[in-house]
Amino acid sequence: MSQIFPRFLATPRLLLRRLRRDDGDALCGYRSLPEVARYQGWESYGPEDARRLIEDQKDAEPGIPGTWFQVAVVERATNVVIGDCGLHCLADEPQQMEFGVTLAPSHQGLGYAAEALECLIHFAFATLGMHRVLAITGDQNQAAASLFRRLGFRQEAHHIEHRWYKGHWESEFVFALLRREWELRSQRNLEAGAEA
Ligand SMILES: CC(C)(COP(=O)(O)OP(=O)(O)OC[C@H]1O[C@@H](n2cnc3c(N)ncnc32)[C@H](O)[C@@H]1OP(=O)(O)O)[C@@H](O)C(=O)NCCC(=O)NCCS
Repeated sequence: MSQIFPRFLATPRLLLRRLRRDDGDALCGYRSLPEVARYQGWESYGPEDARRLIEDQKDAEPGIPGTWFQVAVVERATNVVIGDCGLHCLADEPQQMEFGVTLAPSHQGLGYAAEALECLIHFAFATLGMHRVLAITGDQNQAAASLFRRLGFRQEAHHIEHRWYKGHWESEFVFALLRREWELRSQRNLEAGAEA
């Protein structure tokens, strides 16, 4: 089967590529940190979790309904894996894609998450033909909420204590962006660039 995801996607400072066997140590290095795990689906993260994720992703492709496709975020200057992004094609709405993103704390605050997601949003709309992309963030996760707002996502919902999560009732935001909103935003960015 031909691969939907290319060998890599490049941005000015990053390469986005499939997970590889030797990414385990890097994934564990940041995913096991409490501040990184705080709003994520895992409580703890060890070498076996990383091994299983990499193995599960071996033949994965983005845009398969009901599956997550995981991408390594590599800093071009150092060739180090500094994070990962997840692309979840919804089971019942295959033209809708949820994004997840995790960066090593050492590489947060540099605009890398935004740079990686800009590229993946373009891929989701232009290559995969998505209609709508979304993200779900804990309402106390300010870094994630401001990231998606900065990327032009609309806040569509604020669910209050709607799910039992890690021993408490968690409140979450839902952010979303339609293809036509993204096209308008890209057009405006182009025009602003031309005027500058
Ligand atoms: C959510 C997460 C990925 C956000 O990372 P981030 O580095 O804050 O996000 P960005 O890439 O958008 O960077 C924005 C910051 O970089 C700064 N920055 C520096 N250089 C920049 C540049 N060239 N371009 C853009 N922003 C830049 C911005 O000012 C901003 O800083 P501020 O938050 O102090 O205002 C990160 O906090 C994380 O991995 N958290 C743990 C996992 C998690 O909770 N994920 C969310 C689940 S959906």
